[in-house]
Amino acid sequence: MDEATTEKIKRLYNRTAVYYDWMDRMVSPKLRKKALSQAYGKVLEVGVGTGKNIPYYPEGCEVTAIDFSPGMLSKAMKKLHLAKVPVSLLEMDAQEMDFPDGIFDTVVATCVFCSVPNPIKGLKEVHRVCKANGRIILLEHVRSNRRMIGVLMDILNPISLHVVGSNINRRTLENIQIAGIKVDEVEEFLGKIVKLVIARP
Ligand SMILES: C[S@@+](CC[C@H](N)C(=O)[O-])C[C@H]1O[C@@H](n2cnc3c(N)ncnc32)[C@H](O)[C@@H]1O
Repeated sequence: MDEATTEKIKRLYNRTAVYYDWMDRMVSPKLRKKALSQAYGKVLEVGVGTGKNIPYYPEGCEVTAIDFSPGMLSKAMKKLHLAKVPVSLLEMDAQEMDFPDGIFDTVVATCVFCSVPNPIKGLKEVHRVCKANGRIILLEHVRSNRRMIGVLMDILNPISLHVVGSNINRRTLENIQIAGIKVDEVEEFLGKIVKLVIARP
């Protein structure tokens, strides 16, 4: 079942790649910059998408960025010239990464764990590949904890999942903790729906 879902979400993102930059306005460049200012050293970006974070990595970073959608990666490739630091792109599934344990100083994901088919598996991989004293930066939209909005998100979720491959009602903060990641700081935006999480393995 997991494999079929993974293929379905990958197909949707290959299709969405064409209009993703136009459609996605949830996370402002200012917020991306704020999140990425905390990245350092050997960085892994999970689910790089069309490469919207690429211009914001600070000097000193050396970035490896993965995505399972060739369509999204080919858009990201067109943004490589905007990078201030070396960035390499790889096609890879976040749920089963090809990296050894504990090799990255920083692991970054922005708006990714709404769509990874098995988010806990993916987050456990984030935990595994990050150095023991490394940093995990997650900027994610989650299910609202306001009752009516949360219920509305549950009702609308099948449409969002079917059309763009993204769940709007994931409980990502809980999933992060289930995966064994230790949360140090959480900052909330957009009525607490968008969360910037600074954490460690
Ligand atoms: C909503 S987009 C976000 C893209 C980018 N991080 C951003 O902030 O604009 C989600 C991305 O995660 C990727 N993705 C979802 N599940 C994945 C998985 N299992 N492995 C690798 N990439 C995945 C999708 O292909 C897509 O590019």
